[in-house]
Amino acid sequence: MRIESTRYTECLGSVRINDVQQVLELDSGRAKELPPQENIAVQKIEEDVIKDFEEKMAIVIPTKDEKLKLFEGVVSGVPHECLLIVVSNSQRRRVDRFRMEKDALNQFCHFTRREALIIHQKDPVLARALAEAGYTDILGEDGLIRDGKAEGMLAAILLAMVAKKDFVGFIDADNYFPGAVWEYARCYATGFCMAKSAYSMVRVLWRYKPKISAGMFFKRWGRVSEITNRCMNSLISSKTGFETEIIKTGNAGEHAMSLRLAEILTYASGYAVEPQELISIFEGFGGVLPMANPTAAKHGVEIFQTETRNPHLHEERGGRHLLVEMLLPGLGSIYHSPLCEKETKQLIINELLQQNAIQPDEEPPKPRLITPLRAINLKKFTAVMTEHMNSYSALEEEE
Ligand code: GDD
Ligand code: MG
Repeated sequence: MRIESTRYTECLGSVRINDVQQVLELDSGRAKELPPQENIAVQKIEEDVIKDFEEKMAIVIPTKDEKLKLFEGVVSGVPHECLLIVVSNSQRRRVDRFRMEKDALNQFCHFTRREALIIHQKDPVLARALAEAGYTDILGEDGLIRDGKAEGMLAAILLAMVAKKDFVGFIDADNYFPGAVWEYARCYATGFCMAKSAYSMVRVLWRYKPKISAGMFFKRWGRVSEITNRCMNSLISSKTGFETEIIKTGNAGEHAMSLRLAEILTYASGYAVEPQELISIFEGFGGVLPMANPTAAKHGVEIFQTETRNPHLHEERGGRHLLVEMLLPGLGSIYHSPLCEKETKQLIINELLQQNAIQPDEEPPKPRLITPLRAINLKKFTAVMTEHMNSYSALEEEE
């Protein structure tokens, strides 16, 4: 794969935020000695190197009642070397959609001879393992894991730790293009390959997000992303004193992290999770508040933003979902951060009023924060989970 080198980096304390890097060539051919000047503006990442990183990476697919055909397509796009982890919150009653996902995955793994784990978010063993390991932040009143994409992601990160992976990447299950899925995973691998720090994150920026309205229109920015990015950038500017547009992936659902970074971040419930990850990084390592982790602060936290070639086409859930479930909580995570000063708060209020998402005297809701995963007793969690691992593995026959 050929990708632009990191040309511009903005620093905030020990956080390095790299500007967007475009993918130039999805397949850059065989490994060859390159003339030295060729690696200046453009990086060629060899296939073998990409595979090495894919091998150390789990790809998590969070899913909730998605069309089975889409789910199957997404699964088929994940590179073979990655460990697939499906965490599903699909219904089990009237129609057992989880069963259907499991069957589809089993069949896929059987014929492709690959590894995958599939688990239901409401799995009682998973909940018990969390409780026994002292990590109850994502458990609800019924003792099971709460609903929500973030809650599913966290359970999957823990499974990636049990599987001893080094990286974890997320890809939504409602994506129409398996080719895009394949590209996301390669971009994650490429980002980790370029990273100098063990605490790194790769966030995907879609080149286009097509909309269907009297023909196809290749839209570049979604409304929610545009607003979230603007507010996030305003917060950074207030700390550096220089106006910036560096953040272009504030809401990126498609993103990946090294597990060393993933275990020290504070998360937020539901769809506030992606903006909150950035906020946690800025709070913990931005140099304004006390450093959250001395080793990570020393190594620095690195953020990559990669622009993919494939357009992004996923299921559309309509305006209200975008406003209430995504924009509002996302901006809430910026607004309620101790880093957020008056001007950014005002900007957030103005944006939300303009979108009719709040009333004149209202504030965005406080995010529900989730303690870093490091608080868990991983040994205990692993002990409970390994005992039942066979029933989550797609290649194993069921007892
Ligand atoms: N396990 C699990 N549990 N998965 C869930 C849950 C849940 O409670 N709720 C939703 N999902 C799955 C969906 O099935 C889908 O695969 C993925 O999580 C994203 O959910 P969507 O409901 O499709 O979100 P979206 O398309 O509006 O927003 C996506 O893109 C945004 C912008 O990049 C999400 O990835 C957002 O998190 C992201 O900010
Ligand atoms: Mg979606």
